[in-house]
Amino acid sequence: MLWGKGMKTHTSTIGIDAISYSVPRAYLDLRDLAIARGVTPAKYTDGLLVERMAVAGPDEDPVSLAAGAARRVLAASGRGADEIGLCVVGTETAVDHSKPVAAFLHGLLGLPSTCRAFETKHACFGGTAGLLGAVDWIAAGSNRGRSALVVCTDIARYALNSPGEPTQGAGAVAMIVSSRPRLLELEVGRTGSYARDVHDFWRPLDRKEALTDGHFSVQCYLDALAGAYADWKQAVGPAGLDVDRDGMKLVRTCYHVPYGKMAKKAHLHRRSLDGLGDAGAEESFATEVGPSLRLPGQVGNVYTGSLYLALCSLLHEEAEELAGKRVGLFSYGSGCTAEFFAGRVHPEAASLVRRLDLMAPLRDRRQLSMAEYEALRRADEGADRRPAPEGVQARGIPGRMGYANGHEGLVKFLGIDAGARRVYDLQ
Ligand code: HMG
Repeated sequence: MLWGKGMKTHTSTIGIDAISYSVPRAYLDLRDLAIARGVTPAKYTDGLLVERMAVAGPDEDPVSLAAGAARRVLAASGRGADEIGLCVVGTETAVDHSKPVAAFLHGLLGLPSTCRAFETKHACFGGTAGLLGAVDWIAAGSNRGRSALVVCTDIARYALNSPGEPTQGAGAVAMIVSSRPRLLELEVGRTGSYARDVHDFWRPLDRKEALTDGHFSVQCYLDALAGAYADWKQAVGPAGLDVDRDGMKLVRTCYHVPYGKMAKKAHLHRRSLDGLGDAGAEESFATEVGPSLRLPGQVGNVYTGSLYLALCSLLHEEAEELAGKRVGLFSYGSGCTAEFFAGRVHPEAASLVRRLDLMAPLRDRRQLSMAEYEALRRADEGADRRPAPEGVQARGIPGRMGYANGHEGLVKFLGIDAGARRVYDLQ
């Protein structure tokens, strides 16, 4: 693809070849949470733009969610595990201080021994670090014809009764990144970056629940957007911003979605940075961002995967009409770092999206009562110390790649064995 006259010519096509995700089997309706917390439900549904949040059960952890999403994307896209030369897992809720989720995934998926596998962390930016690293790996020629598997997996937890509680969620998004992308061709080497040392959100080593300076974190996100967007404008140059040129307008933008309202604030802020006023702002948000918020509104914040769950949502809703069109992406990780970048929807994306069946993971979920939700959350603390059933040993499941719709085939976390090793199995 040639990225416009006046910009440096790019002939490489690298991007997202396939995408899928997995979520826990249960969710909480945020109206129930609001009533239990003595809050008007409209504060969550209209004020935060969230409807439901996924809640992980005792057998669902970042590894099992990652494996579920990865198995699904491989099976639905027709790609084999033997085609993967790089496996990067972005997470901020890792299960071990040393052994990366990527190593568990390597075993559970039966990836080749010649695969480079590791984990990346920078709050919600960890998955984007993996994606951009995979793009560079391909651009450098290190892939030798192989593809990368990038998985973002997290369980977002805040304390019960805290302001962050309605912005929890859990899930994993898996992407295959290749030089023959069938979904989204990325503009290689044209990203805008931003970083600053702030304490807007953090999770000390001994805690399962995040701490946050909530309103400050919103401001940090918006500042980071301003910085990354300005740098992106520099990176793409005047030709990359020339909206009158055919196909150069960013017709949609996916933002990191801790909750839907944050994406709305981001979009309105970006419009103001572009010198656009309030007139048309609501319509612009509804058209350019709305379709990307449907899935996040059903799942909640999935941290590293949030931006890519928004992309799943957009592709599910509009892959056909967006064929050949340019889309913006904004990734934010607290602490903080951010990146603004863009890609173009592949002309044939719609037919693959139909095969990927991006609503499947949301089918057959079970609604939790408040009592069940609170019991699950209280059990979280001991989840990593739960003994696995006697006689069960840690093992991978190479070769078992079949995947049906819904939640069948999810990898389950069984507990830990006598040597404190985590044990997984496929049900
Ligand atoms: P809060 O203080 O309880 O809520 O918590 P609020 O009082 O700010 O109200 C929220 C919105 O609801 C407001 O809208 C109210 O007006 C509205 P806004 O003014 O913002 O447009 N509202 C109502 N609307 C309709 N009907 C009503 C009603 N009442 C109020 N009756 C906060 C909000 C986001 C601070 C909290 O949920 C929180 O701390 N969340 C966690 C932190 C977070 O998500 N930050 C986002 C930016 S940082 C980020 O994205 C990174 C992150 O993903 C982590 C990572 O990178 O790893 C979090």
